[in-house]
Amino acid sequence: MFNINDINHQQYTAAGANNKSLSALIWKFTYWFMVGLTMSIIETATYIYHLFIPRTPADVSKQLALVTGGGNGMGRAFCFRLAKEKCDIAVVDIDYQSALRTASDIQEEYKVKCRAFQCDISDYAAVLELKNKVELEMRPIDILVNNAGLLYMSDFLTSDMKDIKRVVDVNVTSQIMVVHTFLPGMHERKRGRILTVASITVINPMPAAVVYTGTKFAVEGFMSCLFDELAVNNNDEYIKLTTLYPDFTHTRKELSDTLDHIKYDFPRLTPERVADEAIHGMLTGERRVVVSDIKIAHYFLRLYPDRARKYLMKSMTEIGQLLKK
Ligand SMILES: NC(=O)c1ccc[n+]([C@@H]2O[C@H](COP(=O)([O-])OP(=O)(O)OC[C@H]3O[C@@H](n4cnc5c(N)ncnc54)[C@H](O)[C@@H]3O)[C@@H](O)[C@H]2O)c1
Repeated sequence: MFNINDINHQQYTAAGANNKSLSALIWKFTYWFMVGLTMSIIETATYIYHLFIPRTPADVSKQLALVTGGGNGMGRAFCFRLAKEKCDIAVVDIDYQSALRTASDIQEEYKVKCRAFQCDISDYAAVLELKNKVELEMRPIDILVNNAGLLYMSDFLTSDMKDIKRVVDVNVTSQIMVVHTFLPGMHERKRGRILTVASITVINPMPAAVVYTGTKFAVEGFMSCLFDELAVNNNDEYIKLTTLYPDFTHTRKELSDTLDHIKYDFPRLTPERVADEAIHGMLTGERRVVVSDIKIAHYFLRLYPDRARKYLMKSMTEIGQLLKK
């Protein structure tokens, strides 16, 4: 195990690398390369097969789902969508009143257990306390929806450093802390699903969301590496990870006003649609779920050479304005 405090005392040494014979190394590499290649072919064939024969979603009824930021927007929609799957719900939010509202609205509509928990997920002690409270008042969780985040749209040059630090804290550090707190229990019980909310800006980075996009790239990197780490230890067979990349979604008036201001005039998604596609993706074992009406345009823009992107960005804005008329 690498200890960060030993960093200054460690010296790089190539000793050991020479002990292995070259032929053994070549043999090992060829073996794992062939296994990887065969798995890639099987995965591609399975993907094509499921384009015609859809996968059946897993049954998660009576499981406990914890949703961070469940008081508003997408988080609230995730709570409702999971309650529809007959999950019990732990609604977590920094804003206790909104969490309470979600919990009581769900209980009115669905016959599931639902509790509200107040927690600022950027406070590690509070996250540890949250785990204890949820396990005491409900039980250990089966599903974690890592949703709470701050959608921060701002011109980087004039952004305030205090705001930047808060966004990085809530969007990155908190997500990692929450997973670090709840994953060991899932590992012990050999059952768990984690859905983490990234953003379409990971597929297609955008101006006016520089820091926000940076945080979402961090989330993407974290989830990808975590998936690989679970996979090499065969833990991916019972802990399923999904990353979500939603396009702009109508959750708050401030967001819509900002998008109007920067003339991003494409139709905005509803939180219910995002939650529906995301939970369906999670329950059918998708690793990545992209929700957008203009997916192809986003992928296309991503592939475009850097210097040419600015013209495409401008044309996207104009097409968006035409679509709105
Ligand atoms: N709305 C969009 O267009 C959009 C697009 C892509 C991705 N996302 C991502 O989706 C997620 C949800 O976004 P939204 O638009 O529904 O946001 P929202 O602001 O409507 O809701 C976020 C919820 O999280 C809670 N919250 C904020 N900080 C918290 C903290 N420190 N601890 C606990 N709870 C906290 C808020 O109180 C709020 O209830 C975010 O991660 C966001 O980055 C949003």
